[in-house]
Amino acid sequence: GLVNTKEIYAKAIAGKYAIPGYNFNNMEQLQAIIRACVETESPVVLQVSKGARNYANETMLRYMAQGAVEYAKELREDHKSIPITLHLDHGGNFEICKACIDSGFSSVMYDGSSLPFDENIAISKKVVEYAHSRNDYVTVECELGVLAGVEDDVSAEVSHYTKPEEVIEFKERTGCDNLAISIGTSHGANKFKPEQCTRNEEGILVPPPLAFNILEEIEQKLPGFPIVLHGSSSVPQSYVKTINSFGGSLKDAVGIPEPQLRKAAQYNVCKINIDSDGRLAMTATIRKTMHDKPGEFDPRKYLGPARDELAKMYARKNREVLGSAGHA
Ligand code: G3H
Ligand code: 13P
Ligand code: NA
Ligand code: ZN
Repeated sequence: GLVNTKEIYAKAIAGKYAIPGYNFNNMEQLQAIIRACVETESPVVLQVSKGARNYANETMLRYMAQGAVEYAKELREDHKSIPITLHLDHGGNFEICKACIDSGFSSVMYDGSSLPFDENIAISKKVVEYAHSRNDYVTVECELGVLAGVEDDVSAEVSHYTKPEEVIEFKERTGCDNLAISIGTSHGANKFKPEQCTRNEEGILVPPPLAFNILEEIEQKLPGFPIVLHGSSSVPQSYVKTINSFGGSLKDAVGIPEPQLRKAAQYNVCKINIDSDGRLAMTATIRKTMHDKPGEFDPRKYLGPARDELAKMYARKNREVLGSAGHA
């Protein structure tokens, strides 16, 4: 069945890698995630956002995730499943978290990062107490510090790095199982304004580095405690190029360079969230396929190649960026 994050994160800390937090909204995305994670023998956190719940229906997504556990077994020769967590991404209030805990999610995030410190703590603690009171012990991710960009409802123009001096009190007062922090990542495909970046010889935007000094300080304050990074898409320029050359229009798209994430995975960062890169991979493939085969009108003929490209990308992330391959 679905597992909570306790054991998989403890192993990720010991092994100095990060587990992928991949979002899904539909069957093709879920199949790509499962195929890639089975192929690379990686644990995976399947993430359902509020947007996903609105788009696909929470019940549908929950059964799909449960089905994915069985699908993973079928794909493996030894018929064992890989560790799969079904996680609520960016739960905005206690009620949403409670609904997901009650319905069978094995992990939830309560995101009170936009609230004042004490209010964030109060609601986080309420979610944690509820989640932990369950027989099956649902793990809870909370967030301290604000990411730039759009975080569901919450829009933050500038990111506010997590204050290392606040993390011990936050962890102790909330009892959270793991903590999402802000060290310069942000959501979406335009993570930095061009004026925050430099340009390399090819004219490609190079973003400012992540604040590893803050990550190190947090790690010293909370030794062995699982840390999560959101907003960690790298925005591969090859996908941006393909999208733009087949009718799309993405301007100044820029992400977190993969070497920065590979470095972050060496720390107590246990999960790295990637959603936008999957969207780019699918959209690039669909745009190109529709252009190359204008006579096709069967959705399988363009969703299929998009799914294959997505699986390929996720397998590469697991192997080369997160280091989670081989740890299922
Ligand atoms: O953190 C945001 C995730 O990428 C989910 O985005 O709310 O558009 O589904 P969404
Ligand atoms: P990206 O937009 O960088 O993929 O971040 C996804 C995320 O943090 C989901 O919670
Ligand atoms: Na790690
Ligand atoms: Zn996020």
